[in-house]
Amino acid sequence: MATKPQTAIILGTGLGRLADEIVIEQEIPYSEIPNFPQSTVEGHSGKLLLGKLGGKDVLAMQGRFHFYEGYSMREVTFPVRVMYELGIQTLFVSNAAGGTNPSFSVGDIMIITDHINFFPEHPLRGKNFPTGPRFPDMHEAYDKNLIALADTIAQEKGIKVQHGVYLGTQGPTFETPAEYRMFARLGADAVGMSTIPEVIVANHCGIKVFGVSIITDLGGFDNPVEVSHEEVQVAANKVQPLMTDIMREMIKRS
Ligand code: HPA
Repeated sequence: MATKPQTAIILGTGLGRLADEIVIEQEIPYSEIPNFPQSTVEGHSGKLLLGKLGGKDVLAMQGRFHFYEGYSMREVTFPVRVMYELGIQTLFVSNAAGGTNPSFSVGDIMIITDHINFFPEHPLRGKNFPTGPRFPDMHEAYDKNLIALADTIAQEKGIKVQHGVYLGTQGPTFETPAEYRMFARLGADAVGMSTIPEVIVANHCGIKVFGVSIITDLGGFDNPVEVSHEEVQVAANKVQPLMTDIMREMIKRS
Protein backbone atom coordinates (compact mmCIF):
# COMPACT_ATOMS: atom_id res chain seq x y z
CA MET A 1 0.00 0.00 0.00
CA ALA A 2 1.44 3.35 -1.07
CA THR A 3 -0.45 5.25 1.59
CA LYS A 4 0.91 5.06 5.11
CA PRO A 5 -1.35 7.41 7.06
CA GLN A 6 -0.61 8.65 10.56
CA THR A 7 -3.79 10.73 10.61
CA ALA A 8 -7.35 9.40 10.69
CA ILE A 9 -10.65 11.20 10.39
CA ILE A 10 -14.07 9.98 11.43
CA LEU A 11 -16.34 11.79 9.01
CA GLY A 12 -19.21 12.53 11.38
CA THR A 13 -21.90 15.12 10.90
CA GLY A 14 -20.35 18.36 9.72
CA LEU A 15 -17.28 16.78 8.16
CA GLY A 16 -18.82 14.62 5.44
CA ARG A 17 -17.76 17.00 2.71
CA LEU A 18 -14.13 16.71 3.71
CA ALA A 19 -14.25 13.35 1.90
CA ASP A 20 -14.62 15.21 -1.42
CA GLU A 21 -11.26 16.87 -0.85
CA ILE A 22 -9.35 13.67 -0.25
CA VAL A 23 -7.35 12.56 -3.28
CA ILE A 24 -8.41 8.96 -2.93
CA GLU A 25 -5.89 6.23 -3.59
CA GLN A 26 -7.86 3.34 -2.20
CA GLU A 27 -11.39 2.65 -0.97
CA ILE A 28 -12.06 -0.36 1.22
CA PRO A 29 -15.71 -1.26 1.88
CA TYR A 30 -16.28 -2.23 5.50
CA SER A 31 -17.68 -5.52 4.22
CA GLU A 32 -14.19 -6.50 3.01
CA ILE A 33 -12.49 -5.89 6.37
CA PRO A 34 -12.51 -8.94 8.67
CA ASN A 35 -14.58 -8.40 11.83
CA PHE A 36 -15.53 -4.84 10.87
CA PRO A 37 -19.12 -4.02 11.84
CA GLN A 38 -21.50 -3.86 8.91
CA SER A 39 -23.80 -0.94 8.38
CA THR A 40 -27.41 -2.00 8.51
CA VAL A 41 -28.70 0.94 6.49
CA GLU A 42 -29.09 0.06 2.82
CA GLY A 43 -27.09 2.29 0.51
CA HIS A 44 -24.87 3.40 3.38
CA SER A 45 -22.53 0.47 3.40
CA GLY A 46 -19.59 2.50 4.69
CA LYS A 47 -15.96 2.41 3.66
CA LEU A 48 -12.47 3.37 4.61
CA LEU A 49 -10.89 5.96 2.33
CA LEU A 50 -7.13 6.14 1.97
CA GLY A 51 -5.52 9.07 0.22
CA LYS A 52 -4.04 12.53 0.49
CA LEU A 53 -5.46 15.60 2.20
CA GLY A 54 -3.52 18.81 2.80
CA GLY A 55 -0.45 17.01 1.48
CA LYS A 56 -0.71 14.30 4.15
CA ASP A 57 -1.60 10.65 3.91
CA VAL A 58 -4.95 10.17 5.65
CA LEU A 59 -7.36 7.41 6.47
CA ALA A 60 -11.01 8.45 6.66
CA MET A 61 -13.98 6.52 7.95
CA GLN A 62 -17.00 7.22 5.80
CA GLY A 63 -19.85 5.94 7.91
CA ARG A 64 -19.59 5.49 11.66
CA PHE A 65 -21.33 3.22 14.12
CA HIS A 66 -23.56 4.51 16.91
CA PHE A 67 -24.42 2.66 20.11
CA TYR A 68 -28.12 3.54 19.62
CA GLU A 69 -28.14 1.54 16.37
CA GLY A 70 -27.68 -1.59 18.44
CA TYR A 71 -23.95 -2.12 17.94
CA SER A 72 -22.00 -3.25 20.97
CA MET A 73 -19.35 -0.92 22.37
CA ARG A 74 -16.77 -3.34 20.99
CA GLU A 75 -18.24 -2.90 17.51
CA VAL A 76 -18.57 0.89 17.82
CA THR A 77 -14.89 1.19 18.69
CA PHE A 78 -13.43 -1.62 16.57
CA PRO A 79 -12.45 0.83 13.78
CA VAL A 80 -10.23 2.71 16.24
CA ARG A 81 -8.47 -0.55 17.09
CA VAL A 82 -7.86 -1.04 13.37
CA MET A 83 -6.51 2.53 13.14
CA TYR A 84 -4.06 1.76 15.93
CA GLU A 85 -2.85 -1.38 14.15
CA LEU A 86 -2.33 0.67 10.98
CA GLY A 87 -0.09 3.13 12.85
CA ILE A 88 -2.49 6.07 13.24
CA GLN A 89 -1.19 8.67 15.70
CA THR A 90 -3.80 11.42 15.48
CA LEU A 91 -7.58 11.15 15.20
CA PHE A 92 -9.97 13.92 14.12
CA VAL A 93 -13.64 13.50 15.01
CA SER A 94 -16.76 15.58 14.58
CA ASN A 95 -20.38 15.39 15.59
CA ALA A 96 -23.64 17.30 15.81
CA ALA A 97 -24.70 18.27 19.31
CA GLY A 98 -27.34 20.16 21.22
CA GLY A 99 -26.03 23.24 22.99
CA THR A 100 -26.72 23.46 26.71
CA ASN A 101 -24.58 26.57 27.25
CA PRO A 102 -26.86 29.62 27.07
CA SER A 103 -24.14 31.70 25.39
CA PHE A 104 -24.10 29.34 22.37
CA SER A 105 -26.02 29.84 19.11
CA VAL A 106 -27.18 27.35 16.50
CA GLY A 107 -24.39 26.97 13.94
CA ASP A 108 -21.56 27.49 16.44
CA ILE A 109 -18.47 25.32 16.15
CA MET A 110 -17.46 24.01 19.58
CA ILE A 111 -13.96 22.66 20.04
CA ILE A 112 -14.26 19.82 22.54
CA THR A 113 -11.95 20.45 25.49
CA ASP A 114 -13.19 17.60 27.68
CA HIS A 115 -16.09 15.18 27.95
CA ILE A 116 -18.54 13.56 30.35
CA ASN A 117 -19.24 9.92 29.58
CA PHE A 118 -22.93 9.18 30.12
CA PHE A 119 -23.08 6.05 27.98
CA PRO A 120 -24.56 3.08 29.87
CA GLU A 121 -21.66 0.80 28.96
CA HIS A 122 -17.95 1.57 28.97
CA PRO A 123 -16.01 0.81 25.79
CA LEU A 124 -13.08 -0.59 27.81
CA ARG A 125 -15.25 -2.93 29.88
CA GLY A 126 -13.90 -6.46 29.78
CA LYS A 127 -10.43 -7.94 29.42
CA ASN A 128 -7.89 -5.17 29.04
CA PHE A 129 -6.26 -4.75 25.63
CA PRO A 130 -2.46 -4.48 25.92
CA THR A 131 -2.47 -1.14 24.04
CA GLY A 132 -2.92 0.70 27.35
CA PRO A 133 -3.27 0.29 31.10
CA ARG A 134 -6.25 -1.25 32.88
CA PHE A 135 -7.07 2.13 34.41
CA PRO A 136 -6.25 4.69 31.72
CA ASP A 137 -5.59 8.32 32.53
CA MET A 138 -8.07 10.75 30.95
CA HIS A 139 -6.75 14.11 32.11
CA GLU A 140 -6.12 15.26 28.54
CA ALA A 141 -8.45 13.19 26.39
CA TYR A 142 -8.41 16.01 23.81
CA ASP A 143 -4.90 17.09 22.87
CA LYS A 144 -4.07 20.61 24.08
CA ASN A 145 -1.64 21.33 21.25
CA LEU A 146 -4.26 20.43 18.64
CA ILE A 147 -6.80 22.68 20.40
CA ALA A 148 -4.27 25.53 20.32
CA LEU A 149 -3.60 24.88 16.63
CA ALA A 150 -7.33 24.96 15.87
CA ASP A 151 -7.66 28.26 17.74
CA THR A 152 -4.79 29.77 15.76
CA ILE A 153 -6.24 28.64 12.44
CA ALA A 154 -9.76 29.79 13.32
CA GLN A 155 -8.40 33.19 14.31
CA GLU A 156 -6.38 33.51 11.10
CA LYS A 157 -9.47 32.69 9.06
CA GLY A 158 -11.80 34.86 11.13
CA ILE A 159 -13.96 31.88 12.10
CA LYS A 160 -15.63 32.11 15.50
CA VAL A 161 -15.18 29.01 17.67
CA GLN A 162 -16.45 28.09 21.11
CA HIS A 163 -14.78 25.76 23.59
CA GLY A 164 -16.70 23.34 25.74
CA VAL A 165 -17.42 20.05 27.41
CA TYR A 166 -19.25 17.40 25.35
CA LEU A 167 -21.55 15.06 27.20
CA GLY A 168 -22.28 11.80 25.40
CA THR A 169 -25.46 9.87 25.99
CA GLN A 170 -26.86 6.82 24.20
CA GLY A 171 -29.91 8.41 22.54
CA PRO A 172 -31.77 7.90 20.29
CA THR A 173 -34.19 10.31 21.94
CA PHE A 174 -33.18 13.92 22.04
CA GLU A 175 -33.24 15.27 25.56
CA THR A 176 -36.31 16.44 27.43
CA PRO A 177 -36.05 20.05 28.64
CA ALA A 178 -35.41 18.74 32.17
CA GLU A 179 -32.60 16.48 30.90
CA TYR A 180 -30.99 19.36 29.01
CA ARG A 181 -31.08 21.45 32.20
CA MET A 182 -29.63 18.58 34.21
CA PHE A 183 -26.76 18.11 31.75
CA ALA A 184 -26.02 21.85 31.81
CA ARG A 185 -25.84 21.71 35.62
CA LEU A 186 -23.54 18.72 35.45
CA GLY A 187 -21.07 20.81 33.46
CA ALA A 188 -21.96 20.04 29.84
CA ASP A 189 -21.85 22.70 27.15
CA ALA A 190 -23.19 20.35 24.49
CA VAL A 191 -24.82 16.95 24.37
CA GLY A 192 -24.77 14.30 21.66
CA MET A 193 -24.92 10.58 20.95
CA SER A 194 -21.49 9.66 19.63
CA THR A 195 -17.73 10.29 19.77
CA ILE A 196 -16.93 9.46 23.41
CA PRO A 197 -16.51 5.68 22.88
CA GLU A 198 -14.07 6.24 20.00
CA VAL A 199 -12.19 8.95 21.92
CA ILE A 200 -11.76 6.71 24.98
CA VAL A 201 -10.40 3.83 22.91
CA ALA A 202 -8.12 6.19 20.95
CA ASN A 203 -6.68 7.45 24.23
CA HIS A 204 -6.21 3.89 25.42
CA CYS A 205 -4.20 3.28 22.24
CA GLY A 206 -2.07 6.41 22.70
CA ILE A 207 -3.72 8.14 19.72
CA LYS A 208 -4.02 11.93 20.10
CA VAL A 209 -7.53 13.26 19.57
CA PHE A 210 -9.05 16.46 18.25
CA GLY A 211 -12.84 16.77 18.37
CA VAL A 212 -15.44 19.33 17.37
CA SER A 213 -19.17 19.60 17.81
CA ILE A 214 -21.45 21.57 15.56
CA ILE A 215 -24.18 23.09 17.68
CA THR A 216 -27.31 22.22 15.73
CA ASP A 217 -29.95 23.05 18.32
CA LEU A 218 -30.25 24.51 21.79
CA GLY A 219 -31.95 22.92 24.75
CA GLY A 220 -32.85 23.52 28.33
CA PHE A 221 -33.50 27.21 28.28
CA ASP A 222 -36.70 29.05 29.17
CA ASN A 223 -38.72 28.05 26.11
CA PRO A 224 -38.41 24.36 25.23
CA VAL A 225 -38.18 23.96 21.45
CA GLU A 226 -38.76 20.93 19.30
CA VAL A 227 -35.62 19.25 17.90
CA SER A 228 -35.70 17.21 14.71
CA HIS A 229 -33.12 15.22 12.78
CA GLU A 230 -33.81 17.40 9.72
CA GLU A 231 -33.08 20.57 11.66
CA VAL A 232 -29.84 19.04 12.92
CA GLN A 233 -28.79 18.19 9.34
CA VAL A 234 -29.65 21.65 8.00
CA ALA A 235 -27.70 23.44 10.74
CA ALA A 236 -24.73 21.10 10.33
CA ASN A 237 -24.64 21.52 6.54
CA LYS A 238 -24.46 25.29 6.86
CA VAL A 239 -21.32 25.08 8.96
CA GLN A 240 -19.66 22.34 6.89
CA PRO A 241 -17.53 24.68 4.73
CA LEU A 242 -16.02 26.38 7.80
CA MET A 243 -15.38 23.08 9.55
CA THR A 244 -13.80 21.63 6.43
CA ASP A 245 -11.58 24.69 6.11
CA ILE A 246 -10.26 24.39 9.69
CA MET A 247 -9.73 20.63 9.49
CA ARG A 248 -7.90 20.70 6.15
CA GLU A 249 -5.52 23.32 7.48
CA MET A 250 -5.02 21.46 10.78
CA ILE A 251 -4.12 18.26 8.97
CA LYS A 252 -1.69 20.17 6.76
CA ARG A 253 0.09 21.73 9.77
CA SER A 254 -0.05 18.93 12.32
N1 HPA B 1 -29.04 15.83 21.81
C1 HPA B 1 -28.40 14.73 21.48
N2 HPA B 1 -27.84 14.56 20.30
C2 HPA B 1 -27.91 15.57 19.42
C3 HPA B 1 -28.56 16.73 19.72
C4 HPA B 1 -29.16 16.87 20.98
O1 HPA B 1 -29.77 17.89 21.30
N3 HPA B 1 -28.46 17.54 18.64
C5 HPA B 1 -27.77 16.86 17.72
N4 HPA B 1 -27.43 15.67 18.18
